[in-house]
Parts: sequence; C-alpha cells; structure tokens
Amino acid sequence: MKSILVTGAAGLLGRFVVAELLQHGYAVRGFDRRAGSSAIDWCVGDVTDPVAVGQAMQGMDGLLHIAAVPNIWSGDAQTIMRVNTLGTYTVFDAAEAAGIGHAVFCSSDSVAGYTVREGRMLAPRYAPLDLEHPLLATDPYAVSKVLGEDLARSFALRGMSVVALRTVFVAYPEMAGEIVARAKDPAAYRGPAVGGPSSAGGGPLHHHIDARDLARAFRLALELKLAGGDFERFYLSAQVTLAPEPTLERLRRLHGAAVQVRDPGVYERQPFAPLYDLTHAAERLGFLAEFDQRHLLAGLPGF
Ligand SMILES: NC(=O)c1ccc[n+]([C@@H]2O[C@H](COP(=O)([O-])OP(=O)(O)OC[C@H]3O[C@@H](n4cnc5c(N)ncnc54)[C@H](O)[C@@H]3O)[C@@H](O)[C@H]2O)c1
Repeated sequence: MKSILVTGAAGLLGRFVVAELLQHGYAVRGFDRRAGSSAIDWCVGDVTDPVAVGQAMQGMDGLLHIAAVPNIWSGDAQTIMRVNTLGTYTVFDAAEAAGIGHAVFCSSDSVAGYTVREGRMLAPRYAPLDLEHPLLATDPYAVSKVLGEDLARSFALRGMSVVALRTVFVAYPEMAGEIVARAKDPAAYRGPAVGGPSSAGGGPLHHHIDARDLARAFRLALELKLAGGDFERFYLSAQVTLAPEPTLERLRRLHGAAVQVRDPGVYERQPFAPLYDLTHAAERLGFLAEFDQRHLLAGLPGF
C-alpha cells in the first residue's frame, strides 16, 4: 500500500481527494492548518513552516500539494504570494529531502489569465485554449499559480516527476446556491450572496468541474507513469460550462473577433464546450469529466 501526503486535506477539495484515495487503497496523511473530519492521520501546521512540513513528509511515497489560498477573495496579495509560492517551495523542498519521487501540484486555469474580472484580464488568443497558449496571469492568485508551477517544475528538473493540474472553478455541493444565484441575475450577482464559501467562479465563461471528477483526476495524476525529470500539465474542466450562452457566442459578444477559433468542430459537437482543450487530459491522463452541474440551472432563462 502506498502512503500519500495530501496538503490542504481539510479543505473543500481535500476531503474529496482523500475519499478518492482511501477508496483506491492508499494510506493517506493530511497536512493542513487544522485537522479535517476524514479518519486519517493528521499533521497540523503551516505550509511555510519547513519543520512541520518536513516532519509530515516522513515515510510518504507520494505528494498531492493542494493547500493554498484558493482565490483572490480569500486573502490579501501578500498572504496569497507567501502561502502559494513560499508554501509550494517549502512543500516541494521537503518532499525532495524525504525522497518522494512523484508529486502532483494543484494549479488553476487562472494561469491562462481568463478567470477574474478584477485587474487586467486579457482575452484568450484562441479556442480551444491548449498548453501552447501563453500564460497571461495578471492577478496575484493567478500569478502565484504560475510561480507555483515554475517552482514545482524546478524540482522536476532536479529529478522528481511532477504533474500540475490546472483546474477550473470547482462546483462543490456548498456552491450550488451561489451558482443558481448568479445564473438568476448575472449582472447583479456579487457573491457570495447566499452563504456559499466563496463567489461562483469560472471566469466569464462560467467554467466548472465537479469535485468528484477532480478528485479522480488527482488520483490519475498520482498514478500516471512518469520518469524522473518529467513535468506535465493538464487543463481540467467539465465538458460543458454553466453559462447561459454557447461558448463561441459568448466569446464573440465579449471580445468580438479577437479570439481565433482553431477547431470549430469542438463547438459544433458541444456548443457549451469549455474554452479549454480537453483532448490532452483525455489522451494522456485518461481523464474526461463524467459530471456537470447544468441541471441546477434547468428552467432558468437561457438554460
Ligand atoms: N475552489 C476552486 O474553484 C479552485 C479552482 C482552481 C484551483 N483551486 C485550487 O484548489 C485547491 C484547494 O482549494 P479549495 O477549493 O479546497 O479551498 P479551501 O480553502 O477549502 O482549501 C484550501 C486548504 O488549504 C489550507 N491552507 C491554506 N493556507 C494554508 C497554510 N498556510 N498552511 C497549511 N494549510 C493551508 C486551508 O486550511 C484549506 O483546508 C487550492 O490549491 C486552490 O488554489 C481551487
């Protein structure tokens, strides 16, 4: 049985990832600022504390680094940068020192730069947006994920294998009310309006992914056969957005002809397909999302 350290295990995503790993026979240790409710071994500490992180790594075979300030609304820029970059360095440094050969880093689609309206968000250059697309992050959270990926990659260059998962907004069960509130009145929505843990996200196209799918993606990334030195990245999303308009229509309304459509067939087959290219994750990671949350919006105007 393999022992896996999951940072951020007490968080909204962490509990789904822990459950997925336990179901598949892994021994799991959680590292977080507080112990979560999962019945696993817990190490409580801060990801920027090298001593606490170093102790948590002992005896582990693999690492899923999920702990972070999870969006620009959850911390000021200084805190985001400290936790998401220094914390990532500290975690990977300790993993390397403990002899862990394979790690998964929880990144975000925000690295592409198309997630939050605050700041200087730039239109994507083309759709579907793939790994060749430039990273156009402008807000502190998105930049922290770009830097986090770079830090993780530096440890791959030193001999680890690393996978970075660029997930879109996660539609946790707790977010259902926020998703519906936004869909009812997108112009007026200033979440969290109905008690959700944060605002309904996913950028202008209202991307989302179900937490069960994302947890499976983490397990697949953990199990991906890689050699030391390999560094791989994947965009992850449900197969449809939560937007009221088809994707190309919405992109044209927001950006005119600025977004080049490279593969119209994707949007002919599924008009609500996400901005992000899903074929790389399907082919290389064996991941295609099974769930989506559009059913929450049935009956609302445009859905
Ligand atoms: N929620 C989304 O829509 C979304 C989208 C893309 C990426 N992500 C990423 O997913 C991951 C999980 O986020 P989440 O949605 O579960 O949010 P969350 O806030 O529920 O979970 C983050 C966890 O990290 C822990 N943490 C934060 N700072 C820490 C520190 N200094 N030391 C130790 N632990 C610390 C928190 O206690 C929490 O349990 C994050 O890396 C986030 O950036 C989230």
